[in-house]
Amino acid sequence: MTVVVTVDGPAGAGKSSASRRLAERLQLLHVDTGAMYRAVALVAAERGVGLEDDGALGRLLEGLRFAFDLGRITVDGRDVSEAIRRREVGELASRVSARPVVRRRLVALQRSLAASPGVVMEGRDIGTVVFPDASVKFFLTASPGERAHRRALELHATGQTVDEAALAAELARRDERDSTRAVAPLRPAADAIVLDTSTLSLDDVVAEMERVVRARTALPGG
Ligand code: DC
Repeated sequence: MTVVVTVDGPAGAGKSSASRRLAERLQLLHVDTGAMYRAVALVAAERGVGLEDDGALGRLLEGLRFAFDLGRITVDGRDVSEAIRRREVGELASRVSARPVVRRRLVALQRSLAASPGVVMEGRDIGTVVFPDASVKFFLTASPGERAHRRALELHATGQTVDEAALAAELARRDERDSTRAVAPLRPAADAIVLDTSTLSLDDVVAEMERVVRARTALPGG
């Protein structure tokens, strides 16, 4: 049986660090679906494709070949792992991710990545749309101030300068768009375990997630 662990939540809630570590501990594949939306947004912007032009987006997606390996993402053989982390790409990704034509293609790709022994997949709609029957679902949240602070640290680490107040406003706008869009809005699945990570260390978050997954599935070890 393939174990599917879903991790959803808003930007800066700690999904990526926690999912990556959890996957390592459980020896499962880790898939960051936000990176896919970012990659589509990056390539669309580079090629002058309008982010609201469904016909052109559909044609663009037809031709793109994504590959994931060891935490790197390549599109048509080009490694875009760093380029997609730029701040403006997050904003473009939020816009392009509201288009049904984009979601259809990426959801199909995401479903194809669940292979034995299992996967930890993070995003916004993984527990609600991509894998509604997942083995275990988590929804990570944190206070807006803490999320902006964490995002600022991440951007600093990649050499980008940020004003935390502006970043907080940007995240709030992005969450509002991600939560209110017509298709696959950001919300916890009815059966998701909601973890507020504001005052928890990464170790604590991962330990709690690992405990729940091991209790509910038949993964070996631990
Ligand atoms: O997790 P992230 O910040 O890298 O995601 C970038 C954008 O992609 C985010 O604003 C919303 C969108 N996204 C989505 O709509 N569905 C997903 N499963 C993952 C990300």
